[in-house]
Amino acid sequence: MTTGPSASSGAGSMAGQWAGRDLLGLRGLARGEIVELLQEARRVEGDASGSRDALRGVVVANLFFEDSTRTRVSFSIAAQRLGAHVVDLGSGGSSVSKGESILDTALTIEAMGAGAMVVRARQGGAPHLVADAVGCPVVNAGDGRHEHPTQGLLDIFALAEAHGRADDFDLSGLHVAIVGDVGASRVARSAVAGMTALGARVTCVGPSHMAGAGLASLGCEVSHDLDSVLGLVDGLMMLRVQFERRDGSGPADLPSVREYRTGFALTSERAGRLKAGAVILHPGPMNRGLEIDGAVADGPQSVIRRQVALGVAVRMAVLKSLVLPRDC
Ligand code: CP
Repeated sequence: MTTGPSASSGAGSMAGQWAGRDLLGLRGLARGEIVELLQEARRVEGDASGSRDALRGVVVANLFFEDSTRTRVSFSIAAQRLGAHVVDLGSGGSSVSKGESILDTALTIEAMGAGAMVVRARQGGAPHLVADAVGCPVVNAGDGRHEHPTQGLLDIFALAEAHGRADDFDLSGLHVAIVGDVGASRVARSAVAGMTALGARVTCVGPSHMAGAGLASLGCEVSHDLDSVLGLVDGLMMLRVQFERRDGSGPADLPSVREYRTGFALTSERAGRLKAGAVILHPGPMNRGLEIDGAVADGPQSVIRRQVALGVAVRMAVLKSLVLPRDC
């Protein structure tokens, strides 16, 4: 049984070898463990056909109890490319809608022979509960405001690649700003953990009600002034306003959309003030015209589509690393 990222990541893993059973978060992982997963993703991307059949006969269960496009589809594609069978379950269309718990659903799917589970849930900690209960590897595909480790890995890969660091993934000397609704963001928590473990300096930027001083406990700096950090960073990750995790259900939930855009949107004018070579990231889904202008998202500094593409290789690497028998 595993209880948290450290235990689940296989404390005591050998250098250059992933020894964890589950991937529940990047916080608490050793630098070498993160690098190993990223290097496996790079190997897989360069030779996807070499991984064909790696998981033949394995059933990978996608248990998505919260909506998703990128993560759900890319885990399915990743598992299929590895030759696995994919079972794709959401809360709509499953017995969760009749009141069955996530845990009972996971145990039911395990009893049918699942060899790995990918879990997304609105509740922080749900994948950890599943990992404690089942015997197969579990991957956290995003839990509430907590973590989204495979998103963090692909964000790191895209940043490292853009700066010529995708050999050893050493991010020393790079400065990244994560901008917007940081407090509500599991993507930000995984990115801060992973990027700082690899040596990057990270500054979280947003209005005080979205980027409180307490974020500094994650190991990042905190700023409420996007314009003051704009010319300093090598990577700018824009975040969606997480309306579903706030009280309201739409832009009216923001005190002022105009004020938010004035202070924190990545407009074309702001993108023009970035350093040469700085790249723009966004985990998606985007609110074009709110946190980022469409022309910037589609422009030459953007690596947003590359992030999406890398998601498949990263998820293939994670599934391979967790499921295949290890020789130690
Ligand atoms: N970035 C991300 O998790 O997107 P989805 O919600 O579409 O999976």
